[in-house]
Order: sequence, then C-alpha cells, then structure tokens
Amino acid sequence: MPVHLCFSLVLSLFQAIQCSTIFNITASRPLVQNQTLVSPRQIFELGFFRPNESGKQYVGIWYKNINPSRVVWVANRDKPIGDADQSATLLIGGDGNLKLLDGQQNTVWSTNITAKSNYSAALLSDYGNLVLQDGSADEMWQSFDEPADTLLPNMKMGVNVKTGKRQNLISWKGEDDPSFGRFVAGVTSETPPQVFSWNGSSPRWRSGQWDKSKFIGISTINTTYLSGYNLQQSIDQGTSYFSFSDYNNSFFGYLIISSEGSLKFVLWNDGWSTYWEAPAPTNQCDVYGTCGPFGVCDPSSSTMCRCLKGFKPRSDEEWYRGNRTGGCLRDMELNCQNSTSAVASTTVEKDMFARMNSMKLPDSADYLSSVADKEECQSWCLRNCSCLAFSFVDTIGCMVWSRDLIDIQQFSTAGEVLFVRLAAADAGIPMKTKLVISLSTISVIILFGVGISVWCLPRWRGKFRKMKIPRLLKSVDTAYKSEELVAARKEQMKQEDASELVVYDLDSILLATDNFNAKNKLGTGGFGPVYKGKLNGGKEIAAKRLSSNSGQGIAEFKNEILLISKLQHRNLVRLFGYCTEGEEKILVYEYLPNKSLDAFLFDSKEKAKLSWGTRFRIIQGIARGLLYLHRDSCLRVIHRDLKVSNILLDEKMNPKISDFGLARMFEGTQVLVNTHKVVGTLGYMSPEYAMGGIFSEKSDVYSFGVLMLEIISSKKNTSPDYLGQHLNLLTYAWQLWCEGRGLDLMDEAIADAFSPSEVIRCIELGLLCVQDYAADRPNMSAVVLMLSGQSDLPQPKQPTFTFQRSTTHKVQIQPKEETFLSRNTITVTMVEGR
Ligand SMILES: *[C@@H]1O[C@H](CO)[C@@H](O)[C@H](O)[C@H]1NC(C)=O
Ligand SMILES: *[C@@H]1O[C@H](CO)[C@@H](O)[C@H](O)[C@H]1NC(C)=O
Ligand SMILES: *[C@@H]1O[C@H](CO)[C@@H](O)[C@H](O)[C@H]1NC(C)=O
Ligand SMILES: *[C@@H]1O[C@H](CO)[C@@H](O)[C@H](O)[C@H]1NC(C)=O
Ligand SMILES: *[C@@H]1O[C@H](CO)[C@@H](O)[C@H](O)[C@H]1NC(C)=O
Ligand SMILES: *[C@@H]1O[C@H](CO)[C@@H](O)[C@H](O)[C@H]1NC(C)=O
Ligand SMILES: *[C@@H]1O[C@H](CO)[C@@H](O)[C@H](O)[C@H]1NC(C)=O
Ligand SMILES: *[C@@H]1O[C@H](CO)[C@@H](O)[C@H](O)[C@H]1NC(C)=O
Ligand SMILES: *[C@@H]1O[C@H](CO)[C@@H](O)[C@H](O)[C@H]1NC(C)=O
Ligand SMILES: *[C@@H]1O[C@H](CO)[C@@H](O)[C@H](O)[C@H]1NC(C)=O
Ligand SMILES: *[C@@H]1O[C@H](CO)[C@@H](O)[C@H](O)[C@H]1NC(C)=O
Repeated sequence: MPVHLCFSLVLSLFQAIQCSTIFNITASRPLVQNQTLVSPRQIFELGFFRPNESGKQYVGIWYKNINPSRVVWVANRDKPIGDADQSATLLIGGDGNLKLLDGQQNTVWSTNITAKSNYSAALLSDYGNLVLQDGSADEMWQSFDEPADTLLPNMKMGVNVKTGKRQNLISWKGEDDPSFGRFVAGVTSETPPQVFSWNGSSPRWRSGQWDKSKFIGISTINTTYLSGYNLQQSIDQGTSYFSFSDYNNSFFGYLIISSEGSLKFVLWNDGWSTYWEAPAPTNQCDVYGTCGPFGVCDPSSSTMCRCLKGFKPRSDEEWYRGNRTGGCLRDMELNCQNSTSAVASTTVEKDMFARMNSMKLPDSADYLSSVADKEECQSWCLRNCSCLAFSFVDTIGCMVWSRDLIDIQQFSTAGEVLFVRLAAADAGIPMKTKLVISLSTISVIILFGVGISVWCLPRWRGKFRKMKIPRLLKSVDTAYKSEELVAARKEQMKQEDASELVVYDLDSILLATDNFNAKNKLGTGGFGPVYKGKLNGGKEIAAKRLSSNSGQGIAEFKNEILLISKLQHRNLVRLFGYCTEGEEKILVYEYLPNKSLDAFLFDSKEKAKLSWGTRFRIIQGIARGLLYLHRDSCLRVIHRDLKVSNILLDEKMNPKISDFGLARMFEGTQVLVNTHKVVGTLGYMSPEYAMGGIFSEKSDVYSFGVLMLEIISSKKNTSPDYLGQHLNLLTYAWQLWCEGRGLDLMDEAIADAFSPSEVIRCIELGLLCVQDYAADRPNMSAVVLMLSGQSDLPQPKQPTFTFQRSTTHKVQIQPKEETFLSRNTITVTMVEGR
C-alpha cells in the first residue's frame, strides 16, 4: 500500500472517531456508527439506534437533549440492519442520493430521487427535518415529506390529489418495533377536509369537518379553546394539509399515531405527557361508527346509542344485545320518490327536516359551493330525493348527505346543527303549523337582512296571499331603512371622533418637551419613546413619539387614536390628542406622575411602597378597566398587550391601562384569528394565541391572570429564576396553591400586613384566569364579582400549557418584521410562513 494512501486512511479514521457529532453529511464525509448528525442549535439529532436492544439497528431522528428522548422519524423502517453490523454508513452516493449502506455495501435505504448532483449535502434542521440539498443549497428531498409516525410542528400531514402523494402517519408495529404498523393517520381530500385515523383500511376515528378554525367533531377544541392547529386546503392545487405551529420551536410537542392506534398530542413538560388523545379512552363514542348507520352516539346517555328521530334499530335483537354496529333503519319511507308520480303533489305531504343541535356531523358530506345560505341549502336538499340530510355552517357553507349517515355524535355543547330528512308524517308536525313556522323563519331571515332575491317575492305573494304579506314587505322595508340609519350614524360618529381630539402642531410639542430633551424622557412605550411635557397653559402631558424606524408604526398609531379616543374610563389612560407633521407622529396623553407599575413592582426598594391594600386596589382598578373595554364601552375592545409595564399609576396610585396599539374591536363572543401575525408579550400570551394566533376577550383574561400573580408576588412570570425547579411563575403559584402554601407566593416585602383570605382569593382567581382552555377562564364581569367576594370561585385546574419556558434560548425576536421593544419586556411579533 502506498504510504500516502495509508496515511490518509489513518487520518480519516482518526477524524471519524474524533468527530462524534457532525453538522452535515457530504460526499467526502459520511455518517458512521457512533457518530450523530445534529441540528445547528442541537435540538435534534440523527444517528443509528437500537430500539430496546432489539438486535436491530435503524437510522432515526430524535430530540437531542431530552431524557427520555423520543425517536420522531426512522429511515429504514422495514429494513433494519443487523446488530452486529459495525460498518453500516449513511452517505452521499455517486448519484447524489443519501443512502444507507450495510456492512456488505448493500443499499438498505435511499432518498431515491432522480436529480443528479455531485455536491449533495444532508443537513438536519432545528425543526427535526432532514434535508438533502444540492450544490446550490436547493432542497431536493426532505424527511418532512415522508413522515413516520410523528407529526412535528411545522410539518405537514395530508394529501395532494394531483400528484397522488399522501403524507400519512403510519404507526410503529410495537413499542420497540419501528416497522410499519396497521394504524394510519391522515387527511382526506374532500371539502371540507377531515383528519382520520384508520385501522388498516377501516376508519377508527374521525375529526369531523374542518370549519376553518377547528374540527366540528372535536368537542374539546371548540370555539373557545383555541389551538394552533391549521388545515389548509387548496382546491386549485388539489392539496389538503394539516399542521400545527409551535411558536418558533419554543416547546417540544408532537402528534403521534401510537402502535395501539391512538392519535395523541404529546407535550414535554418535565416529562412527556399526553395532552389530547383520539379516540378518547373514556369516550366510546369517539370510535368511528360505534352506533352504526343512522345511529347517534351520546356519551352522556346511559344507553350511549340511539337511533335518529324517525329511525328504528335494524335488528332489535342485536341492538338490545349491545351490538349497535348494524345501525338503524327509516321508520317511514320518504315521500320524495313518489311526489313526481301521477299522484298530485297536493295530496302527498312533502318531506320535512328534523333539527338536531350540537352534533358531530356525519361522515361523507357533499359540499355545495354554489349554495350561499341556509334557506337555499334546505330547498336544494328538499328538491333532490337522494339528499338525506343537510347542514349549513357559516364558516363552511352548505353540506348535504346522500349516503348512510354514520359516525354521528351528540355533544352537550359545541357541534353543529344537523337537519335530517323525514317523511312529513314522521316529523310529527301538523301541516298548518308547518306553514306558519316556515313563514316565520322566512321573516326572521329577512329581518336579519340575509338577502332575498327579488323573483321570490311575487311567488310568495301568490302563494301566501292570505298571510299578511304586506306586513312582511313592510319589515323588509324597515330593515333596509334601519341599515341606512346605522350607516349614517357611523358616519356621524366618525366626524365626532375627529373633533373630540386635539390636533397639536409640532412646534407646541417641541416647546413642551424641550425638543424631546433626553431629561424629559419617561421611558420607551409600545413603539417609541415617551416624553414628559408642559403645554403653554401649564397642562402636563406625556408625548409618545413614534420612532421613524419602527416600521410598523402607522397602523398601530391610527389604531390607538381610533380606539382610545372613543374610550373614557378612570382606569384607562386619557388621550388628549395627536400630532402628525411630516415624518413625526406623536400621541399626546395625560401625564401620570407615578410612571408604570413595573417601576414599583420589580424594584427591590420601591416594591415595599406597594402595600397589600394598594396592590388590591390596583388589581381591582385594572379589572374594572378591562371590564369596561370588554363589555361596557361603546366599542368592545380586546387589548391584546396587557402587562405590568402597560399599567400606569396616577398620583393616588390608581391604575390606568395604556398602550392600545395592538387592541382590536370585537363583537359579542367573537373569536378572532390572526395566524399571520402573532403580536404580544411573552409570558402574557394565552396558549391559543401564542400557538394559533386566535384571540378573544379571554386572551386578555389570561394576561390579567398573569398580571395578578405578578402583582401579588412581585415576581415576573418569565423570570429566569424559575428555570430551575419551576418553569415560570404560573407553575410555581400552582404548586404552592396545591400544597396549601398559597400565602408563600406573597411578596415578602409586605410582611404580615394583609388579609390572608383576600390574598388567597386573588391567587385562586389568578390561576383561574390562566387556565389552558379559554372556556375555563371567567370573563371580566365574573372576575370583578369574584374579586369583590360577591361570587364564589370555581376550583382552578392545573395550567399545563407552560410553553413560556422558552425564554432561555428557544425564542428569539425576528427583527426584519415587526418588533416592538418596550421598557423592560420584549414584545414579540411572529410571522408564520404559510
Ligand atoms: C458542512 O460542515 C462543515 C463544517 O462542519 C462546513 O465547513 C461546510 O461548509 C458544511 N457544508 C455544507 C454544505 O453545509
Ligand atoms: C463504537 O463504539 C463501540 C463501544 O463504544 C465500540 O465497541 C465500537 O468499536 C465502535 N465502533 C466504531 C466503528 O467506532
Ligand atoms: C424491552 O422490551 C421488553 C418486552 O417488550 C420489556 O419487558 C422491557 O422492559 C423492555 N426494555 C426496555 C429497556 O425498554
Ligand atoms: C425508487 O424510485 C423508483 C421510481 O422513481 C421506484 O421504481 C423504486 O422502487 C424506488 N426504490 C426505492 C428503494 O424506493
Ligand atoms: C459529476 O460526476 C460525474 C461522474 O462521477 C462527472 O462525469 C461529472 O463531470 C461531475 N460533474 C461535476 C459538475 O463535477
Ligand atoms: C384493528 O382491526 C383488527 C382487525 O380488524 C382488530 O382485530 C383490532 O381489534 C382493531 N384494533 C383496534 C384498536 O381497533
Ligand atoms: C353485530 O351485528 C351485525 C349486524 O347487525 C353483524 O353483522 C355482526 O356480526 C354483529 N357483531 C357481533 C359481534 O355480534
Ligand atoms: C312510493 O312508491 C313505491 C312504488 O312506486 C311504493 O312501494 C311506496 O310504498 C310508495 N311510498 C309512499 C310513501 O307512498
Ligand atoms: C342529487 O344529489 C346527488 C348526490 O348529492 C347528486 O349526485 C345528484 O346529481 C343530485 N341531483 C340533482 C338533480 O341535483
Ligand atoms: C368548550 O370546551 C370546554 C372544554 O371541554 C367546555 O368546558 C366548554 O363548555 C365548551 N364551550 C362551548 C361553547 O362549547
Ligand atoms: C426563530 O428562531 C430562529 C432561530 O433562532 C431565528 O432566526 C428566528 O428569528 C426566530 N423567529 C422568530 C419569529 O422568533
């Protein structure tokens, strides 16, 4: 052997042993056993593993610094390498593919793409994605496109009907056996799409239709719970993909189809815990088709299964023996088929619909994209004899069913309204009342202005001449009129608003603040520095100057002017006016001598000045301010950035909520979604908002809960002190409260001068406000009642969703989009790439 070759062999061997972790696999550097490929921030790791010393070796990806770790992806699921094989390698082949070769140089697994490149490299991303890229760093293949049994955040599960490619999760065969098991999870290509899990080829569980913010069939994820799930369907591209976000890799969690066939959402919280499971082990109704065709499963009923109204068990014997899979049969045939026959339709009663509330809608719906409202949906269904049921869901549209109605579940809340077609006689309503009912439905619809096509009117008039048509028409008329009135009033309001605020000229503000002299600077607020000033007349002001480099400013500036000018409450900061001249945009507020709450609360000397009495009054004040925002003001407003530094204090230490740059108007119990941009402050964001961009008044309640606990303890929720034993203030407070040591949370600076029952009540209420499920949090009117002791507190549940642990290294600010920096906390904007 030539000496130099020998030398280089020794050298490369030496290198291989030296570098037990590498950051990429290239043609010149394969991955050998005893080596691992790690992601840049060392979150994920790829290498050879032996499940439970099974005598088989696989190449897989797992979490690097978590114990117990978990394998989230396996390359050679069906072709393990023998345990004794010490020389298997993962390398870039001559054809540019990433290949796994066993000791005999047989290809065990390959990325198997045709694009040829001599400069391929394989890298592992911090999201756990193994990427094969070509010489120009273009991605040629990624493991995210070939999921194993685990769906990681930002990974997609679904189907592309154009290419026929399915990205399904396929379970392991057993706990310790990564080969393909019998359970599969995936997304259907129908509209609206659904998530399924299958046992072989038969459905095991079904999510119900996606209504653009949640699945109709998952009652625990109703409008008020709000997850970070998303299902995107593109009819043009033929794709339906489900994914979930994780707030920039800031928590460890995944969705998995287990080897026993359960779809589980698992989160790391000092150990892996199952956060959600389907089918739910406690709910037999979750299992697909438990009650058979035309059967309804009701988990709250002792018999569980019942037949739809107008149906009876197919086989009484089987049914009462407890075998309900045969389902039910129609009691009385529909009239529809016969109405076209010679028998005049006047003598044959038409079919009717039985209304069923709070349902998990049946499987196999047909979506009618051309039908715009419920009335039209109903008449379409009535016209088509094969239509067995329909449902109109605002966020989806018209769905009709023409196949057996299966997998229907009765919820106590949540769910949607299903209309099931029955022969009129079966519906049990006499003809006369039916007419009246349908007429009143019509008039209700008109009153709500849902729109009515003109050609309908003469027909109705002809048909129901005797039935007070003039009154109907009149109500249409007034409906239109009142709409005009509303518009006019809105216009008037706009003009009034403008006149209520003072428009300052720049000179007077420059004069008042001494040219924005640094010595007048009070601090840095939401999107710019704030200066103290004294106007000509001696009136003191605080002027917030929009930094010209803040990028986002103008929208938030306008938003703040618009909202706050209409709000007046003693616990909200007053806006006097504004100034826009050239580049300058300035908001002028009342001046509050005591600055903001954080200047006291988190200062080791100042915090002693806040007695319990003062703190309690501050809490009550903030609660009243929020209640006003949510309920009592002329607008209804969600603040969205409630935090200690946004609470200002006047000379009497009365709290005033400030900074309305991110606030949004809402209506009723509306839930708003903004998955594009999540803005707010870490530590104060509710899980549904941080994960899914979904916010409602309950997101403010969550922030208020955090605020309360901070005011009681003088500790920041996201303080690094907690990273040892406790993740954050919330888990700390929860533990103390559970152990009956709630008072230990109290700031020691207050000594004994407080009412224990008041403090305990506040802690309990704080915990109640930070519940994971928005529905479990009280609204602000309840909070105000509970604070005053006029209402009892329900028992809080453990807040598990402590993703705020991520303050160490996992969450970073993205400066290129919108970043708000405020006095001492960082407000983060997240933009999701979708
Ligand atoms: C692979 O990693 C080495 C250092 O570990 C680096 O020099 C090289 O640029 C990387 N190659 C690619 C394609 O990322
Ligand atoms: C890998 O490590 C094991 C034990 O640490 C050792 O027996 C084996 O020889 C190593 N293999 C290689 C290829 O370095
Ligand atoms: C390996 O599997 C066996 C049988 O499945 C089980 O009894 C044992 O506890 C497992 N060992 C480990 C280390 O997981
Ligand atoms: C590789 O792809 C070709 C076609 O693209 C297919 O015929 C072949 O079976 C694939 N091989 C493996 C190992 O997947
Ligand atoms: C890639 O490799 C092939 C054969 O190994 C060679 O013919 C070709 O010139 C190479 N291309 C580049 C760009 O190096
Ligand atoms: C899956 O299907 C098989 C065969 O049909 C059955 O024996 C098994 O019990 C099913 N498993 C589950 C979890 O439903
Ligand atoms: C349940 O009933 C169906 C028909 O209704 C029958 O086909 C099936 O075998 C029955 N299953 C059991 C376990 O009895
Ligand atoms: C409809 O017509 C079929 C035959 O044409 C008949 O068997 C059935 O009883 C009729 N149904 C009703 C409800 O009249
Ligand atoms: C009736 O409904 C079925 C199933 O949805 C559909 O295939 C058929 O075209 C419809 N018939 C009419 C006349 O619209
Ligand atoms: C939403 O789900 C929660 C938790 O299951 C439940 O308590 C609440 O009542 C539901 N709310 C609605 C409006 O369905
Ligand atoms: C997410 O994390 C990456 C890696 O640290 C960072 O570059 C990026 O700016 C972060 N994005 C956001 C929105 O925080």
